[in-house]
Amino acid sequence: MDFRVSLGILLLGFGVNSSSTPVTLSDNDIEKGTSECSPLVIAHRGASGYIPEHTLGAYTLALTMGADYIEPDLVMTKDGYLIIRHDNELGLTTDISQHPEFADRRRKKTVDGIELTGWFTEDFNLSEIKILRAIERIPTIRPGNARMNNSFSVMTFQEIIDLAKNFQHVQKRVIGIYPEIKHSTHFRRLGLPMEQLVVDTLHQNGYIGSNAPIYIQSFEVNNLKELKNITDLRLLQLFDNKSTQPFDQRELGTGLTYGDMATLEGLKEVAKYAYAVGPDKSYIIPRDSNNRLGKATAFVKDAHSVGLKVHPHTFRAENFFLPANFQSVNSDENAIGDLKSEIETYLATGIDGLFSDHPDIPVRIRSTCVK
Ligand SMILES: *[C@@H]1O[C@H](CO)[C@@H](O)[C@H](O)[C@H]1NC(C)=O
Ligand SMILES: *[C@@H]1O[C@H](CO)[C@@H](O)[C@H](O)[C@H]1NC(C)=O
Ligand SMILES: *[C@@H]1O[C@H](CO)[C@@H](O)[C@H](O)[C@H]1NC(C)=O
Ligand SMILES: *[C@@H]1O[C@H](CO)[C@@H](O)[C@H](O)[C@H]1NC(C)=O
Repeated sequence: MDFRVSLGILLLGFGVNSSSTPVTLSDNDIEKGTSECSPLVIAHRGASGYIPEHTLGAYTLALTMGADYIEPDLVMTKDGYLIIRHDNELGLTTDISQHPEFADRRRKKTVDGIELTGWFTEDFNLSEIKILRAIERIPTIRPGNARMNNSFSVMTFQEIIDLAKNFQHVQKRVIGIYPEIKHSTHFRRLGLPMEQLVVDTLHQNGYIGSNAPIYIQSFEVNNLKELKNITDLRLLQLFDNKSTQPFDQRELGTGLTYGDMATLEGLKEVAKYAYAVGPDKSYIIPRDSNNRLGKATAFVKDAHSVGLKVHPHTFRAENFFLPANFQSVNSDENAIGDLKSEIETYLATGIDGLFSDHPDIPVRIRSTCVK
């Protein structure tokens, strides 16, 4: 049997619960959700180092590998559904360019200040999105993944929640969901604000309170402050490059940069609304001029001193992403290097969790797990 077909059938066999009745977490489950493994392993876009990102295959593999949390990025359809993609431009990770029926919906748009030409989720309804198939974003670095082009469709947020609950029963452990609200300001301007919808969806599914196995993340700031007003679910502030500004702050003209937010004073402000911070890993250990890991900064200590947990992104096993000291001797950019040692170096700084495209590696090396 063709591998793609057999994988598809295998995944269908997991019987993702498609019933719309919300399944409420039992008190016991919520209780267990409070005792977390350390460091927390967050499967970044699923096990996206092995299977195209944000697909049923990538998430299912991450959970069988033992990841604590699966990470869906959220964007909106024209008819108001939350769907799972990293970008609202669909050409990057779907086969939409192969669909002549959608050729006339190609557009040039500015999203978060960046001009893009392609097909945008906000111009399609959910039934149209469901026609598309996922493709690998970085086929030269992940040629194995590219062999699974067209094997999977685009999921909704509800489908991820159903998958997590399904695995909770199968594996008898708490499965967390770590959604990221993408392009918040962009969708709000289109009349498709995401924040209340994300909160309502989670609350309706039984995820309530700061012990529920949920973190809601964003690179923007004001939407997190707004979320703080409408939910007790945990919030995480993401940090991009130091010199750049969160897009909402740029539009508001505050001048605030991620670098400002990473100072002790900045972190104190973040701690007023967020439970945790998700810095690019260079905030914690920057690379030197030879692309080797340098000396750790005070970031983790500063964040901890104001009560914030620290979950850096993104740990990936290919040479292309690794510092020079952990690349494999085979110098191909897609060769697998020593991610285990890179992660161990970061664990020594006291981080509380991490985002990885290869969640099996951090799961294997962590020492404590109180579940
Ligand atoms: C989605 O759009 C298609 C046109 O491509 C239309 O035929 C269909 O009725 C729409 N579906 C919904 C649920 O609005
Ligand atoms: C998968 O899709 C990518 C992106 O469109 C493309 O570059 C690559 O050639 C495809 N790979 C296969 C094996 O079809
Ligand atoms: C949150 O609520 C407070 C108190 O009602 C209000 O002053 C503030 O503007 C709200 N913040 C956001 C971002 O909505
Ligand atoms: C951040 O920096 C990296 C490399 O230094 C670059 O590839 C990326 O585009 C930058 N991101 C932003 C938002 O400027």
